Amino acid sequence: MSISRRVFLRNAAIASTLLTIKNNAIAKAAERTGIKDFYKDDFRIGTAISTSTLLKNDEHMLGLIAREFDAITPENCMKWEPIRPHDKEWDWAAADKFVEFGQKNNMYIVGHNLVWHSQVPKEVFQNESGGTITKDALTIKMQDHIAKLAGRYKGKIHAWDVVNEAVEDNGSWRKSQWYKIMGEDFIAKAFRMAHEVDPTAHLIYNDYNTETPVKRDFIVGMVKKFKKQGVPIQGVGLQEHLSIDGPSVGEIEKTILALANIGVRVHVTELDVDVLPSVWNLPTAEVSTRFDYTPERDPYIQGLPKQVEEKLAKRYEDIFKIYLKHRDKIDRVTLWGTTDGETWLNDFPIKGRTNYPLLFDRGFQPKSVYFRLLDLKK
Ligand code: XIL
Repeated sequence: MSISRRVFLRNAAIASTLLTIKNNAIAKAAERTGIKDFYKDDFRIGTAISTSTLLKNDEHMLGLIAREFDAITPENCMKWEPIRPHDKEWDWAAADKFVEFGQKNNMYIVGHNLVWHSQVPKEVFQNESGGTITKDALTIKMQDHIAKLAGRYKGKIHAWDVVNEAVEDNGSWRKSQWYKIMGEDFIAKAFRMAHEVDPTAHLIYNDYNTETPVKRDFIVGMVKKFKKQGVPIQGVGLQEHLSIDGPSVGEIEKTILALANIGVRVHVTELDVDVLPSVWNLPTAEVSTRFDYTPERDPYIQGLPKQVEEKLAKRYEDIFKIYLKHRDKIDRVTLWGTTDGETWLNDFPIKGRTNYPLLFDRGFQPKSVYFRLLDLKK
């Protein structure tokens, strides 16, 4: 058994005994030994919290998150559709709990997100008679949304994903409703508005497939232009929805270097590693992508074979070695969820599969990949 596994098991045992006798001081000390502490001199280690964890107040999950992570992102509850299903209707329940949990545990709290083409009601882009809203009216709506959402948590949220996924994989503007109605200017406007509402928040542009050369170049060009124009942007988020086979860590490294070179901080915002067979040509995290279920596309229902588990651990190790090499450029590495049981990749892009992309298994236990990442820091 490796030293880190022994340390982990010992600490977990201590923590659970102490929890029962409620000896706070020592329990706190034992709790402070999650993966975040191994990486404390490098970057924060974060996770995404699901709406059901927050609303059910799932103590098992929240306890694990508090021990292991020091940064949090809401998986869904701050997106436009769930938080504002209609223009005049807000649902703050989960988002308020999310911020409260982060504050209680002294965490780096990320807001996700202010402007995105997905998970946004159609109504946002319509006028009262159901036609397309004008540019001016949409600009006012964007302003109102940012003022209310970022304004409510002003001074509490450390970083905002201001604009999510405005660029296509082929290195062109995504022709979203935001783009079609407001023009490419919608991005700079959103950043200026967010800065005005909460001047201390760190503002991020967030996207997937940032390792694809044409997409990387386009994003770098966009951010460079923003910096020149004084648009308040301080970070770029690499979602890092990766597969076990690619992209290469060399391409990931090129993106980190290119961004650091133009003076923005790098955030890994949504890391997970898909182990299931890929059934499409391009890897994509575009959330509307759907494929049919077939048993061949879901081969690990009974468990992950040892050699695939080893391949996954090696893949994570290679990825983290690159992050560690560039720890001076990276503020945070956030995983998109905590346990394999809750990952969105069980339902994306095919509903109902059994995936294994995260650090903890379905029984909330750390996987071999977790220990591999601790070993990197020994
Ligand atoms: C995903 C969530 O994990 C799912 O629960 C939801 O159904 C769809 O969105 N890029 C993003 C995230 O920025 O917000 C997405 O999250 C995953 C891709």
